[in-house]
Amino acid sequence: MTETLTDIARVGVVGCGQMGAGIAEVAARSGLEVMVAETTGEALEIGRTRLLNSLAKAAERSKITEPERDAAIDRLSFTTDLGEFADRDLVIEAVVENEQVKTEIFQVLDQVVTRSDAILASNTSSIPLVKLAVATSRPDQVIGIHFFNPAPVQRLVELIPALTTSEETVLRAEAVVTGLLGKHAIRAQDRSGFVVNALLIPYLLAAVRMFESGAASREDIDNGMEMGCAHPMGPLKLADLIGLDTVASVADSMYAEFKEPLYAAPPLLQRMVDAGRLGRKSGAGFYPYA
Ligand SMILES: NC(=O)c1ccc[n+]([C@@H]2O[C@H](COP(=O)([O-])OP(=O)(O)OC[C@H]3O[C@@H](n4cnc5c(N)ncnc54)[C@H](O)[C@@H]3O)[C@@H](O)[C@H]2O)c1
Repeated sequence: MTETLTDIARVGVVGCGQMGAGIAEVAARSGLEVMVAETTGEALEIGRTRLLNSLAKAAERSKITEPERDAAIDRLSFTTDLGEFADRDLVIEAVVENEQVKTEIFQVLDQVVTRSDAILASNTSSIPLVKLAVATSRPDQVIGIHFFNPAPVQRLVELIPALTTSEETVLRAEAVVTGLLGKHAIRAQDRSGFVVNALLIPYLLAAVRMFESGAASREDIDNGMEMGCAHPMGPLKLADLIGLDTVASVADSMYAEFKEPLYAAPPLLQRMVDAGRLGRKSGAGFYPYA
């Protein structure tokens, strides 16, 4: 196992939004050398600021020491050119939940990453891993490594082998996630929603439908679950935290897979996405944010 752990030192993270920034932070804090890729210089700057602010907060809250923060920053590098991922041992893709965009990235990574047994992972919440795997010439080395939001805080990671993924890849990914990153891993089959979203998304959609129908106010729905069921955050606040575009995309993938009416995104959710009200990340969702 030790041998397996030490052979992953250079990590690439594609996308530096909420999840990519969090995953890069987790990896850098764990002593790995991390390169982060974004689409444009502007997006990269926003992502870098997000990441550095989060590391600064972790130090302020004494989650890490100042020398640990500085060492993590030293391990981070940033690029807009995926060509720079040639020497990566592990790449974790965390871009928008869009099958076409992700597929193209896996095709590029397949061309670029030179190490023959590198692991190519996706943080997708719902897109079938096998579709990303077969877009490459190494479908045995593609796996889902699904972190939770915010990645530096949430302990869980779902490991999702595609039908094509080798057991060796699963074991190596598990060793990284548990041994190096200090997370708790659970395994799920390559079925849209995996374990957690398969349970969570219908619940969030039910809350949106309840709000949409006028049955209760957003505050009463959230207070109901916070004070009645001891949830740390009510469903509408949680949907805002996840991002309403992501909730809608995951719901669409799950509905496409199972044709289960409970997975169908309610009209209000789609209208809010169309209006650019994506939740916390856009400044407004079910609630306004500063
Ligand atoms: N938000 C959550 O709670 C959550 C939890 C677990 C998993 N996920 C998954 O993580 C992924 C990212 O979600 P997010 O919440 O971070 O979204 P986000 O909108 O915050 O970030 C997505 C980022 O991807 C970047 N991007 C888009 N195309 C790119 C490309 N071709 N190359 C490089 N970067 C590109 C965008 O510029 C953006 O910064 C999705 O697959 C989502 O399903 C999200």
